[in-house]
Amino acid sequence: MENKTIQPAGRVGGTLDVPGDKSISHRAVILGALSVTSAKVRHFLAAEDCLSTVEAFRAMGIRIERDKEELSIHGKGLDGLREPKGPIDCGNSGTTARLLMGVLTGQPFEVELTGDASLSRRPMGRVIEPLSQMGAYFTNGKNPGCLALKIHGCHRVRPISWKTPVASAQVKSAILLAGLYASGQTEVQEPFLSRDHTERLLRACGVDVQQRGFHISVRGTATLRAAEFHVPGDLSSAAFLLAAGALLSSAGVTVRRAGVNPTRTGFLELIKAMGAPCRLEAASESSGEPFADVEVKKAELKAVTIAGDLIPRSIDEIPILAVLATQARGQTVIRDAGELRVKESDRLSALRAELSKMGARIQETPDGLIIEGSTPLKGAVVKSHGDHRLAMSLAVAALTAQGATTIEDVACVNTSFPDFWARLDELRGR
Ligand code: S3P
Repeated sequence: MENKTIQPAGRVGGTLDVPGDKSISHRAVILGALSVTSAKVRHFLAAEDCLSTVEAFRAMGIRIERDKEELSIHGKGLDGLREPKGPIDCGNSGTTARLLMGVLTGQPFEVELTGDASLSRRPMGRVIEPLSQMGAYFTNGKNPGCLALKIHGCHRVRPISWKTPVASAQVKSAILLAGLYASGQTEVQEPFLSRDHTERLLRACGVDVQQRGFHISVRGTATLRAAEFHVPGDLSSAAFLLAAGALLSSAGVTVRRAGVNPTRTGFLELIKAMGAPCRLEAASESSGEPFADVEVKKAELKAVTIAGDLIPRSIDEIPILAVLATQARGQTVIRDAGELRVKESDRLSALRAELSKMGARIQETPDGLIIEGSTPLKGAVVKSHGDHRLAMSLAVAALTAQGATTIEDVACVNTSFPDFWARLDELRGR
């Protein structure tokens, strides 16, 4: 098991780059593979999760060349995939598993999908149900509603109108991808808008995608024409460095060319509400995705309430927001966040357990956390629970603690941010 010991940092600062956005990298590969043209992807996230998606499409006969962070994808159109020779391993990646099921709904062959221990515990019923109505046939393994499972797609995908009880971009995207194969309009209705990268990139490929409030629809059958995707820096990765800035940097931490899609910027709104100065500069755009340089500076932080539509807009940043809340004056309440129990770990229970070891005053509720601040943290031995975002959140907490902190089992960071430890050293001026 790989462990990391982090010493407290007096101050941090600097201007850094972060790797490409994970969600957009997955989608660029998928849409590139389904395109009738060849596509280039620049600033692709070459981390384990997105490489699982690349391997899945290679296994289905798509030629994908990679030179560091650049991909050339030789798409073969919606019907160009072939049956893989064996099971497809989705690793730790929920996005790979669920979005792939959407694509496989349109394939006239059977594929077995497997995943690691964490992914094999995560709920797949939320995509199995709508995709079954669209014509896919699922065969369960040992654990119904979870991986491993087999999916057999069909020639004639049926368009549906689906109301999902959770605001999940993975569910929405699976249905929209299956909808590319259906003749007619497939619609998804969400309780709040989840990240809309699938919609934006599909439009960039020439597909008719409509949005009316929380109703999103796609018209099939579609022809995708991908050309070039330039992936912005991942704001979810940047959040760890920016949070360190909010806690420790009077000079400021700047992350260059981060994605600032409004369905993802809940974290930036929340740290501003907590009192940290946050500035966006040098705005640009590629494939419908906005970018900006984001700067955050240290301030006295104050407690906030995180609930409702802010939850899907900051879903992956709740762990690092919980760390900030320990250092914010007052009581921070996080609610409507039951989804965090079915991420790479049960993040509510894991955050309570690990931050408590560092002295945080944190209480778990069925759908959230109540955090009292500001509470000085102390170094401790803590566990990642095999969850990349927990490991990185604990590392930022460790920067502010008194004494050294050892984080156990940090290899999971490689699923989304392999350079994280180097960037952390850079922030500390090492
Ligand atoms: C993702 C969507 C989110 C997020 C995950 C990536 C995506 O999950 O937590 O890290 O790329 O679609 P849900 O939308 O299912 O909550």
